Amino acid sequence: DEKTKALQEKIRELAARKDAVILAHNYQSPEVQDVADFTGDSLALSRLAADSSAGTIIFAGVHFMAETAKILSPQKRVLIPDATAGCSLADCINADQLRAWKAEHPGAVVVSYANTTAEVKAETDICCTSANAVDVVNSIPADQEVLFCPDRNLAAHVKRVTGRENLVIWDGACHVHAEMTPEILMDRILAEPEAEVYIHPECGGTQAAVDLIEEGKLDKDKVKILSTGGMIVEARKAPAGTRVLMATEVGMLHALRKANPDATFEPLKADAKCPFMNQTTLDNLVTCLETGKDEVFVDPEIIEKARASVERMISIGK
Ligand code: 13P
Ligand code: SF4
Repeated sequence: DEKTKALQEKIRELAARKDAVILAHNYQSPEVQDVADFTGDSLALSRLAADSSAGTIIFAGVHFMAETAKILSPQKRVLIPDATAGCSLADCINADQLRAWKAEHPGAVVVSYANTTAEVKAETDICCTSANAVDVVNSIPADQEVLFCPDRNLAAHVKRVTGRENLVIWDGACHVHAEMTPEILMDRILAEPEAEVYIHPECGGTQAAVDLIEEGKLDKDKVKILSTGGMIVEARKAPAGTRVLMATEVGMLHALRKANPDATFEPLKADAKCPFMNQTTLDNLVTCLETGKDEVFVDPEIIEKARASVERMISIGK
C-alpha cells in the first residue's frame, strides 16, 4: 500500500545518504526483503557482509547474524534495528557449556552452526551454516572426532550424509523448526505424492523424511533437504506449474515466489513464523538509519578468537 511504499522510499534514500547496505535474511517479512540491497541465507549474507564496501551494514535478521558481520568486518559499523532479536537455537549452548563439552572430548574438532553467540564462535574451530555443513565436516580428517553444536537435527543430517560415526551431537534445536514434526510433515507429504518437497535440515521431521525415502515410500528426486539459499536455487530450476511444499519459516515463501513466479509454493506448516526474525519492521529500519541504533559491539578479544572459525566458514563450500 501507499504507506509501505513511502516507508520503503524513505529507507532507500536514508541508506544512500548514510553509505549503508541493507542485508535481509530470507525469513524477513516481504516488505523488508523488498527494501533490502541483498537477501539470502545466512552463509550468503555473511559473505556479502565481508565483501561489502559500504561503511555501515544494516542487518535485517537476528543478533547472531549481525555479530558474525561484525567479526568479519570489525572496522565497519554494524547495526540491527532491534538488538533483542535473538534466536532460540543460539540460546541452546553458551561458552561455558561448550568449554565443558570440549574438556570431555580432548582433541576433538568443534563445528558450530552460525546460529551461536560470538563467545561460542570464539571456542569453535570451524563454523558452518546449513548450506555448507556437510562440506565443513568433510574438510576434517576422518579419524578426528567432531563435536557438532547446537542443532541436533542438522547434526543428524550431516552425520547421515557424511557417514561419520565419530560425530558427537549437542542436543539443541530451533523451536520454530523443531515443531515441524514427523507427524505434521509426513501426512501431508504422503497425501500429495506429485508435489516437490523442500525441507530445511533444522526441522524435527527431517530424519522421518529420509527414512521414508529409504523405504521407497517417498521419491528421492522430489524430496530435498536444503538450506534456505539452496531452496531458492532449486525453485529457479522448477518447471512452470510445479507445486512445491516447503518446510521452513514462512518468510521463505516470498523469496521462493519471487524466484519462480510460475511455480506454486505452499507451507507445510503455515504458522511456522520466527518471532525474532519478525522483530524487524519498516518503522524500526527507518529509526535505525536515522539514529544509528542498535549498534552491534563484540569484545575485540572475542573477535580475535572467533575470526578464524568464521573465516573458515565463509571459505568452505564456495
Ligand atoms: P539458513 O538461511 O542458513 O538456511 O538458516 C536458517 C535459519 O534458521 C537462520 O536463522
Ligand atoms: Fe533462530 Fe529458528 Fe528463528 Fe532461525 S528460525 S533465527 S534458528 S529461532
